[in-house]
Amino acid sequence: MKKATILVIDGGGRGAVLVDKYCQSRHVTQVLAVPGNDLMKKLSQKPVNIFPKIKTTDILSIIKICQSEKVDLVDVVQDDAVAKGVVDALQNEGIRVFGPTKAASQIEWDKAWARNFMKKFKIPAPEFKICKSSQEGIDFIKSQKRGEWFIKTSGLAAGKGALYAKDNHQAIQKINQMKDFGKAGQTYLIEKCLVGEEFSSFAIVDGSNFVLLGHAQDHKPVFDGDLGPNTGGMGCSSPPMAITKKIEKQIKNIFKKTTEGLVKIGRSYRGILYLGGMIDKNGMVYVIEFNARWGDPEAQVIIPSIKNDFYELANQVLDGGIKKIKIKKDNSYRIAVTAASRGYPSDYSKVIGKQIFGLDHLLNQFTSSRHPERSEGSYKIFGAGVKIHNSKYLVNGGRLFYVTTAGKNVAQARKIAYNALSLVNVESDNLHYRTDIGWRDLERFYGKTF
Ligand code: AMP
Ligand code: GLY
Repeated sequence: MKKATILVIDGGGRGAVLVDKYCQSRHVTQVLAVPGNDLMKKLSQKPVNIFPKIKTTDILSIIKICQSEKVDLVDVVQDDAVAKGVVDALQNEGIRVFGPTKAASQIEWDKAWARNFMKKFKIPAPEFKICKSSQEGIDFIKSQKRGEWFIKTSGLAAGKGALYAKDNHQAIQKINQMKDFGKAGQTYLIEKCLVGEEFSSFAIVDGSNFVLLGHAQDHKPVFDGDLGPNTGGMGCSSPPMAITKKIEKQIKNIFKKTTEGLVKIGRSYRGILYLGGMIDKNGMVYVIEFNARWGDPEAQVIIPSIKNDFYELANQVLDGGIKKIKIKKDNSYRIAVTAASRGYPSDYSKVIGKQIFGLDHLLNQFTSSRHPERSEGSYKIFGAGVKIHNSKYLVNGGRLFYVTTAGKNVAQARKIAYNALSLVNVESDNLHYRTDIGWRDLERFYGKTF
């Protein structure tokens, strides 16, 4: 295999972990990222270059970079870029690209389409109703017995489009809010609320076959105890103890039906497929949603556990040979804790530009070891909304960075993460993070049965 230059399309922690993973490939000489982030350059001994002014959906600029930098492979990671068809556009230019086409990724960007797809291929999902006007939804709710609901935009709404309603009265209020989402909420869904334990699973798909890469549990609400508004993700733990062999069998069956179904309808899928699922009290798995990409911060706990050369894996996908691959994983338990600006996910504008203290110390700790994210008892920082200016680390977003740790078990992984976090803060005490990441498995570890 010739020496390669990789371009990663993402600017967050998920992009950072991929940049790091590609840097570890023996075939890769440099990694570029659009837009990338300032901390990516601190990850590896290999050259990392970022293009902070270029948007993930700016197809023409991305093509120009591919040509001028002689890029060998583009990994399209970020949600909007996938949905906008960046993969298709690059393919049309003859560029090698890892990720699903716009048609295949409709499974993420059109939730109504996705639910109809699941129904057609008998993939377990909650009961749903697709609506195109407020009146249609209100009439439907009025015809139903009292219940708990989710009212969801069909289009992408930056992770904010799913609204919980504790009863029919609240459901009507939430239906009326769908118009606030503009185009994304023109078509919306009313779903029965599933109750149980949530998880995320990831598979790598080569068109017709898939291989499971791992599972994680995200912690979406902003505050401890799963309180407060939903965020992009306040932390992850992996592998979840709730995913028993029996549950994994159901998950594999769902991935099988999905990849086969997509082939049958002429939209074969290549790239990372994300299953957001729920395990109910009877141990049955249901699909909450599919995403056509890695999760963020799920990627931060799953990718470091994979021992395979990721550039080789991506090439196997493009050449249609994933079946030959054996995924090698380590046995560590991982935690990623999101360090955020106080105020996130609401207004955190007054925190922008404030200094982050102690981060240089954390970053220096891991640069002395070559693959700290792989060894137990260690941690690694993956950056997102951090800017480096005159050697100072400054707040540049809502989710700032992720402390990712590997331990023998959940308790050890948590201890390392929270020890590291105790050494950092944002000017005027503006750092926020959840202190209970991995709480379910911590309880299981200490003997609670669910
Ligand atoms: P989504 O935007 O579809 O990812 O939904 C965001 C979050 O809302 C999910 O991670 C779940 O916690 C929750 N959710 C969405 N749909 C349902 C459902 N039908 N039942 C229970 N929880 C749901
Ligand atoms: N962590 C949830 C997501 O990436 O959608």
